Amino acid sequence: MSTHEWFRGALAVAACACAGCLPQPASAAAPSRPLVFGTPASARQLAGWQLDVLPDGQGLPAGRGDAVQGARLFAADCASCHGAQGQGMAVQGRGPFPRLVGGIGTIASGAPVKTVGSFWPYATGVFDYIRRAMPLNAPESLSADQVYSLTAFILYRNRIIGEHQVIDQQTLPQVKMPNRHGFYQRPQPETANVAAYQLR
Ligand code: HEC
Repeated sequence: MSTHEWFRGALAVAACACAGCLPQPASAAAPSRPLVFGTPASARQLAGWQLDVLPDGQGLPAGRGDAVQGARLFAADCASCHGAQGQGMAVQGRGPFPRLVGGIGTIASGAPVKTVGSFWPYATGVFDYIRRAMPLNAPESLSADQVYSLTAFILYRNRIIGEHQVIDQQTLPQVKMPNRHGFYQRPQPETANVAAYQLR
């Protein structure tokens, strides 16, 4: 088997873009005989990687929670690094572990305090981040209800929602973050579409 044949077999789903293989269409990239390594990823395995939550709430799972439940979870799983009130802290001289609360209204000042509450533009991003990355020592270990509750707790501590407000698929995308309109696009010459840039 030539290197190109092998490469095309290995990239069964994507067309090989090397000079030897182009300009063949993607369908021509199917291997001439079955692959002898690996196993097809199951739908369940693929679902495990589908964690993205978009700003409008797409990708949010079923479930619900509020800040009261979130407070208990936060004390157990998060306060050791982020402080009892989400104020951030250093642990054994290392850190600081980020402050999650406060700083609202400081972003445009000379001394911005960037927290989830003051800086992040979308409430849905809080869910996305916690679900995939926290707690730092056991990422992806929390249930959807737990992540909704922790998200609610952080939003409540930032005075963005009420203590008993239920946070779920419908309500989370409707939460308006204080810095929602604090970002703007600034295309750089080196990353912009070169042709469009030259036309200007
Ligand atoms: C072992 C320490 C540790 C624990 C426990 C922990 N975190 Fe974190 N957390 C971190 C660190 C470190 C970062 C910064 C990571 C980075 O910037 O790459 C972080 C970042 C975050 C952020 C993003 C902050 C920002 O402004 O960028 C959120 C939100 C967060 N954690 C929530 C939680 C929640 C909720 C829990 C409990 C389920 C939790 N964390 C538990 C250490 C921890």
